[in-house]
Amino acid sequence: MTATATTIHDLLARRAPGHALEQPFYTSAEVYQLDLETIFYREWLYAIPAAQLVKAGNYATLKVGAYNVVIVKGGDGVIRAFHNSCRHRGSIVCKEREGKVAKLVCPYHQWTYDLDGRLIWANNMGPDFDPTKHGLKPVHSRDLNGLIYICLAETPPDFEEFARTASPFLEVHDLRDAKVAHSSTIIEKGNWKLVWENNRECYHCSANHPALCRSFPLDPEVAGVSADGSISARLQNHFDACAAVGAPAQFTLGGGGQFRLARMPLQENAVSYTMDGKAGVKKQLGRVAKPDAGSLLVFHYPSTWNHFLPDHSLTFRVMPISPTETEVTTTWLVHKDAVEGVDYDLKRLTEVWIETNDEDREIVETNQEGILSPAYVPGPYSPDWESGVIQFIDWYADWLERGVAPQRLAAE
Ligand code: FES
Ligand SMILES: [Fe+2]
Repeated sequence: MTATATTIHDLLARRAPGHALEQPFYTSAEVYQLDLETIFYREWLYAIPAAQLVKAGNYATLKVGAYNVVIVKGGDGVIRAFHNSCRHRGSIVCKEREGKVAKLVCPYHQWTYDLDGRLIWANNMGPDFDPTKHGLKPVHSRDLNGLIYICLAETPPDFEEFARTASPFLEVHDLRDAKVAHSSTIIEKGNWKLVWENNRECYHCSANHPALCRSFPLDPEVAGVSADGSISARLQNHFDACAAVGAPAQFTLGGGGQFRLARMPLQENAVSYTMDGKAGVKKQLGRVAKPDAGSLLVFHYPSTWNHFLPDHSLTFRVMPISPTETEVTTTWLVHKDAVEGVDYDLKRLTEVWIETNDEDREIVETNQEGILSPAYVPGPYSPDWESGVIQFIDWYADWLERGVAPQRLAAE
């Protein structure tokens, strides 16, 4: 079955609320292309922690669908993003996933760009050549309390609501004082929406995540979204206790469902995602004065979920690779002065989420394989345990519908 912009409306129109999506949403090249064009090429996307680019000339590259982006720290300390395509004949300029350069030099004919994107050297281009018209094309970028977001759209959607809402929650974590302790990138052989669906519930946790369940609570209220917006007294007490020590915690859903923030309690006696539940880093990143404040859970569709703990922080980035492949990059952030082997043991710090990510990869791949069967029919989500998945799918369907509307009109 193909799914053009016109048929996508039919697929969306007959979508059963509270149910998984039909097969083409997880398998078809056409839906995948629409997902890129209507969501990933339009929305703000989390790219990297600013702490990844320590010095001037440090860069990171990432692919978003057909786009290739380079993010580089300038001599002035400003982090900028550019299309990683030379203004001569289009070659990729920075080939590595990350690196450090004095200037951005194209490997093909050595056109040379300053770290701010200006073309500063191009050999034998004749007297009429104007280098000022051939700088690297900029990509919109924002530094939100040490988290770099990018947007590929010519005119980006509003970022202010998210920035204004998230900043007070993030501020206390001092991410600008962070360093990258570890980063891992895995490919999950599943559609990006299956990665998200799996992230948005813990219905699967008790049977699949023995390490994570030592610290992460199984309470569905933690992963989910209550249908009427109500919050239990237990959770409200936790939010209030965190706020009282200057760590905002209140459950906040915004941006038409695109983002959520909430500082959720961990299992009793656990303060971090370690096997024994104790802190993973002695020198804490941030100023959360309540050791059992739990984890500030932040998601921002379509590209990131995050855990900000009193001792360290974790960011996750989701990038679709193909209709049935998704890249997930996890970054562990610790205080820049924390010393490995003294303030933290890297294995101890990372093992819970390395195991959990691998367990989730297997779950997603097995889910994808089952959906590829012609016998697949969308089943119902659990209203109690999968409210977060319902929220994600409703958000996705809403965004896709809005995104394809102009295309549909053009096709008619
Ligand atoms: S394509 Fe970059 S210098 Fe020629
Ligand atoms: Fe999981």
